[in-house]
This record gives sequence, C-alpha cells and structure tokens, in this order.
Amino acid sequence: MNKIKLTLLILVLGFTYGKAQDQLIVNTQGRKTVSLNGTWNYIIDPYETGFFDYRFKERKENDPGAFWNKPVITKKTDWTEHDYKEPYTIEVPGDWNSQDPIFKYYEGTVWYQRTFDKPEVETNESVFLYFGAVNYEAHVYLNGKKLGMHKGGFTPFNFKIPAELLKDTGNYLVVHVNNKRYADEVPTLNTDWWNYGGITRDVKLVITPKEFIQQYHIQLNQSQDIAKAKKKKKFQISGWVKLNASTSEEIVSVSIPELKIQQDFTVTGDSVKIDFEVKKLKLWSTENPKLYDVEISFKEHSISDKIGFRKVEVAGTKILLNGKQIFLRGICTHEEISSDQRRATSKEDARKLFASVKDLHANMVRLAHYPHNEYMTRMADSLGILLWTEIPVYWTIDFKNPAVLAKAENQLQEMITRDRNRASIIIWSVGNETPVSDARTKFMSTLVKDAKKLDNTRLIAAALEVGYNKNVNFVDDPLGEYTDIIALNEYLGWYGATPDACETAEWEIKYNKPFFISETGAGAKGGFHDDKEMRFSEEYQQWYYEEQIKMFKKQFPESFSGVAPWVLYDFRSPKRNNPTYQEGYNRKGLIDDKDHKKLAFYTLMEYYKELENEE
Ligand code: GCU
Repeated sequence: MNKIKLTLLILVLGFTYGKAQDQLIVNTQGRKTVSLNGTWNYIIDPYETGFFDYRFKERKENDPGAFWNKPVITKKTDWTEHDYKEPYTIEVPGDWNSQDPIFKYYEGTVWYQRTFDKPEVETNESVFLYFGAVNYEAHVYLNGKKLGMHKGGFTPFNFKIPAELLKDTGNYLVVHVNNKRYADEVPTLNTDWWNYGGITRDVKLVITPKEFIQQYHIQLNQSQDIAKAKKKKKFQISGWVKLNASTSEEIVSVSIPELKIQQDFTVTGDSVKIDFEVKKLKLWSTENPKLYDVEISFKEHSISDKIGFRKVEVAGTKILLNGKQIFLRGICTHEEISSDQRRATSKEDARKLFASVKDLHANMVRLAHYPHNEYMTRMADSLGILLWTEIPVYWTIDFKNPAVLAKAENQLQEMITRDRNRASIIIWSVGNETPVSDARTKFMSTLVKDAKKLDNTRLIAAALEVGYNKNVNFVDDPLGEYTDIIALNEYLGWYGATPDACETAEWEIKYNKPFFISETGAGAKGGFHDDKEMRFSEEYQQWYYEEQIKMFKKQFPESFSGVAPWVLYDFRSPKRNNPTYQEGYNRKGLIDDKDHKKLAFYTLMEYYKELENEE
C-alpha cells in the first residue's frame, strides 16, 4: 500500500474512532498533578448498550440514549435505565478481573465514572487528563462531551480539557473501557497471558502553563568514545527539548545543579537541540546507578527529572555498557503480582518484583510482552537493573494489514516517548516469536527502522525464530539482518525432548552479532517433588536449568551475551488449565504464586553468582 493510501487510512481510522489523544506529556511525576486514583463507580455493559443504539450505531453526543456519559436524569418522568452508584464500585488503578469474581474471565465493556472538582488553576494554565494505561480501548467523556479515544493496553495517553468544559465542582468523568481481543489488534487474539481489563494504571490531572515543555531527550552523546571522554574529562551531553507549541526566540535552560551546569538554548519553532559539555560525570552503571537531577526550564516553568548518563552499544559480538563488555544475567517478568492474581500497578509492586530480581543476582529484566508501568522503569534506574522493554507484537499479528502496522507504530512511539530518558532501558524490542513470512519481515523490519528513527541511543531487538534439524538449532531468521542483537526463545528439554537433549545440542547462528537467549524455561508446580523425570516436579525444572547452564558453558558460541529465563513468577494464563499442575497458571516461574522459591531458582542464582564473581 502506498504512503498516500496509508495516510488516508490512518485519517479514516482516526475519525472513525473519534479524536485520538494529544501529544504525550512526559515525566508527569515532575509536574503539578492531581490524582484521580481511588474508588470509581462502574457499569458492566457486555452488549455495549451505552455506546451503540438499537441499530448498533455509535450514539451521538446529543442522542437521548447516550446517557451513559452524562449525569443521570433526575425528573421521575424521564427515561433512564442506568446509574452510577454503590455497591457497583471499582478501584483505580487496577484491573477489573481481580476486583470481583464476576470479572474473572470478563472480556467486554465496563463504564467507569467519578466526579472531581476543579483544582487550583491559574488563568495562564491548562489542564490535561492523563492515563498511565487502559486495556484495551478507551473512550473518554467529561461533562457529557467526548474528549477522545485511545487504543493500546500498555502505554499512556492524555487529553487537553477545554477550559470552558471544566466546572468548579462536580465534573462528571466517564471512561468507556473495552478489553475485547481482535485479530487486527496489537496484541492479537492469541496470547499466553491473562487479558486483564480496565484502567490499570494511575489517572491524574496534569496542570501546565499555556506554553510548556512537552517532551525531551537528554543523554550522553552516544557517538563519543567513553575511554577518551574519561581521560580528557570531557563528556558530551546531547538531545532535544520539545515544547507544546511554537514560540519565537525564547530560551530553554537545562541545568544539572550537582555539576553546577546551566546551559541556555534559544528556541525557534517548537523544539531545540541540546548539546553541551561537562567536565566530570559519574556514569550510570549496574554497580553504581548514579542519577542526576536535571532541570529543564522555559519561561517561568521548570520540570525536574532524574537521569542516568551512560552509553550502550554493540561492538562485534559483544554488548558494551560504558565501553566495557557486559553479560546480561537476566530474567523475564510479566506485569503481575502472582499471589494476588492481578496486574502490578504501584511502586510497592515494583519493589516486590525487583527484590526477587536482586535475590536472583540478576542484573537485567525483560519486561514481557508489553511496556510495563513507569514505576518499573524508574525503579530500575535507581536500582541499576538493565531493561529490555517491548511492544506486544506477539505471535500471529495480522502482518498484511497496514492499519495494524499503524497501531504497532503508535504503541512503539508511546513506549519510547514515555521512557526515552530512562538509563536502565538498553533494549527496545519490536516483537516476540512472530512466524517468518515476507509480510512479517517487512512489518517487523519497518518497526525496527521506526525505533531507530525515534531513538538511536539504544539497541533494537525482537525474539527471533529458531529452526531445528535433529540436534542442530539454527538461527537464520531474516529479521536478524535488521536487529542489533540476535535474541531468541528456546525450550530445549521442555517443548520436545527432555533436558538431557541439551548435552548434544549444536547451535548455528547466521549472524555475527551478540547472541541473547530471550526466553528459556520449564514448568513446575511449587512444592511438588518427585524424581527428575517427572514433568512439573520441581526436580524436573531444576534438571532443565542444570542442563541448560551446562549447554551455555559448553556449546554456546563466543557471541553468547546473556540470557533471560522464562519466568520470574508463575503467572495467570487462560491457556494453562491442567487441573493438577496449572489451574490457570503458567508454571514456568522460578517463584510460585505463594511466593515460594522453587529449586530451580537456586540453580540459576548459583550460576549468576558465579558469573558475578568472574566480572
Ligand atoms: C513463549 C512465549 C511466552 C510463553 C512461553 C511459554 O516463548 O514467548 O509468552 O508464555 O513461550 O510457552 O510458557
């Protein structure tokens, strides 16, 4: 499809679903905000009665039946068939599945409603409504007017609230959320994780000046040689600052108070390049995750962010952090608190997940299979844990459909825009285990190029496909031409064969790039013990890890640069219903849903401690 047709299609899509979201506001933590978290009212609406009329057409705002986005009519003669009131209440943030048994498997529409009073807003200020994420489709109404809609279950979005729409008290906020799965969405119909629906992350009002700093990227200039920079005590800081509107001849200042740095840049238009030198700089690393307070000012407005300065690159078949080779002692995790069967949403949840990562002596986490909440990426910054973060282009996406590519590109852009200033993120991944075809490789290589255009300071990856020919495992996935590392998922000894098959396994990697195992794992029911041949026993899973680690040491090529076993915790999956061992959980966790560490946890931990001591 040529560019013109694609553009037209995206425009039509945009109008079909109502105005898409405004430009994303980054770093809401560093701005004036009012939280709208808490107890909201809800109505469950499996037949979309509040959204479509009886001819199944989207109700217009003046449609008397479009009453679900307006306060309930009170005259007793008036027609109404709904209301928002107790006991139908739900907590925000949070998935709905874990909040009431009726929602356990629910896939459909839920209407959320709450009121709020107008916060302190100066005449020269604007108010935005910001959502950390809503899974999957959100239509947002305020005082009966539609602010817009958003699709994508794991990335933030915001809408500017027209000043005339905001009342002093009792602003009536309604969000129509639908988490149904469709073949032409991202992810598509088939995933091995629970389809948690709802307003799953923080909601807040963001108050900004009329003209404000919308987005920015400030990082070590990745083209400089770290050794030389250290020797000369000359570090180049580069990037850009983007305003929400064009301005003429105004100054944007960037300062790092700890380094007594203050740099002014003249903006013409809506953005300005940032480039300055600092004499001394403590580089961010896994051993010393140094974060600097960076202040960005424009007119009377300034925001502060905590930024770590570091360089990540590929040199031949090695991954380098600050010029030094690093081996990624990783682990995969879903965004889930397994013991509560719910989405992780808070800073405390992030603390719990990373505490287990540290127990494992891991230095890297693969945030599977979608962008996690911002508490995770900011906490990784402060803990010195490297991250791989990805968009849910997972398995059998509709690769031939340009509208699906546009959806994937939108999620990629939202992921990178939100997190581009997080030092911990060293890898953006554009997908997982997508079946090789010409259409798929065109789709995925487009995403790789998009990611590089959006951010050329990180490595771009995808979990590639592996071929098997008897005991030879070969990697010649055409997508490997485009990615910076060769990452792949292998389950030798679980899906087919038994763990001893690792002893004779051979590996043939077509590409001369760093080789990374982005998944490997076996299932075990926590507390179930038997001899090691017994599937789902802790001993089988331990055997699997023992054989895998022997294979890493003995048979892997010198380009082997890291591994992120699947998976830190057992997690909910509607596909895993073996009544004895699974009961709705994927049991490949090293820790089970009762927070019990299985035998294999210690096997991997010992391997990581050995590697740590060799560093
Ligand atoms: C795949 C997939 C995971 C899945 C895992 C498994 O590699 O990427 O999402 O959960 O295998 O089968 O357990």
